Amino acid sequence: MKKTVICIAILLLSSTLVFSREPKEYDGDVIYNESKIPHYDLPRLLVTAEGKKVTTSEEWRDIRRPQILSLFSNLVYGCVPEPESPIKTVFTVKQSDPKFMDGKATRKDVQIRLSNDKGTVEMLVLVFVPNKAIKPVPAFMKHSFNDTKSRDFDAHPSRRGQLRNGWPLGEFFDRGYGFVAIYQQDLVGHNEVEFLKGIHRLFYRKGQSFPKANEWGVLSAVAWGAMRAMDYLETDSDIDHKRMAIMGHSKMGKAALWTAAQDERFALAISAQSGCAGAALWRRRSGETLEKMVTRFPYWLCRNAWKFVNNEEDLPVDQHMLLACIAPRPVYVHSGVEDTWADGRGEYLSAYHASEVYRLLGKKGMSSESSPPVGKAIIESDVGYHIRKGGHSIEMYDWQRFLDFADYHLKKKK
Ligand code: GCU
Repeated sequence: MKKTVICIAILLLSSTLVFSREPKEYDGDVIYNESKIPHYDLPRLLVTAEGKKVTTSEEWRDIRRPQILSLFSNLVYGCVPEPESPIKTVFTVKQSDPKFMDGKATRKDVQIRLSNDKGTVEMLVLVFVPNKAIKPVPAFMKHSFNDTKSRDFDAHPSRRGQLRNGWPLGEFFDRGYGFVAIYQQDLVGHNEVEFLKGIHRLFYRKGQSFPKANEWGVLSAVAWGAMRAMDYLETDSDIDHKRMAIMGHSKMGKAALWTAAQDERFALAISAQSGCAGAALWRRRSGETLEKMVTRFPYWLCRNAWKFVNNEEDLPVDQHMLLACIAPRPVYVHSGVEDTWADGRGEYLSAYHASEVYRLLGKKGMSSESSPPVGKAIIESDVGYHIRKGGHSIEMYDWQRFLDFADYHLKKKK
């Protein structure tokens, strides 16, 4: 109770400090019109913090990428601190059903138990392996809004090839992919009060009851969970952990990009309509802005991010740099015409600007600053993209393009 009161007080106090500042060149309304986007200059991807030009892949890998990741960790999503007592991890396959979806796949329910002397937290990871395919299979991992402990992951009783939550896993099995689901709230609750009761407790220093300004918010905790699921997959001989795609929609699309940017074990990343704090550029302030995000969801990012509200131009990073940290691994960005809150144009521009790093590393990026026509997917590139008609969802058309992109990159002949 005491802890709860303290943390709410800290949140309120910090938000008063942040939001009492005068907004600059910004009228507080949501911008949906391209002509209202403020002028902005993006931070330079290929210039180090010391002002030196990055001209080789070694300089990118050894100097610039670590600098950028550290900025995202400390100022945007929050770092995972070193725990005082080591975390013990135990994987247990709780159940295995070889007859899942009329025998198309085997479903394994895997518990990941994380504990130290401060407490225990558990994740339930669902691993689906197509029975017919040659093992180990490439697979997708999805950051899920659905609880892996719920019936949402049963095969749909009437819609063939689908789960109850609508995911078309039959399509994945037919195309030779496994699928892994992890639940966004296993490690961390997503409101101010529940947030403090999960994984953070295991990492607090003596006397600490709230993350420091540069320490992990929800999205970092969710990304960290995906890395623990990857630790398990490294031990599962049915899954080719070197051909894993990480994906997520919306808030989980943000988490998917942050996961892939940090953890090079993920071979490919897919951001579905991730928008603000995902693929969209902060500086455009189009649709959802940093201000809108931290006022409605103050715990998603780290508290340092609040300092840049209405001061996006002071951020030493923008989201094209997050995508660039995934390079040379392929990244795919998906937008929706009516999903203006997520700023589809800003999502495309991130992909376009990140391409500079892909090219430096000898990969193929976007060559045109103009977004491609609606419904025309860019697949044969290390930076892929499509925008389709309609709003904020993943439709069959989208799932199929994600699979096409994975086919192109994960199955292509070496
Ligand atoms: C809200 C939020 C978005 C987020 C979305 C979602 O709209 O503002 O940032 O992506 O929820 O997760 O569906």
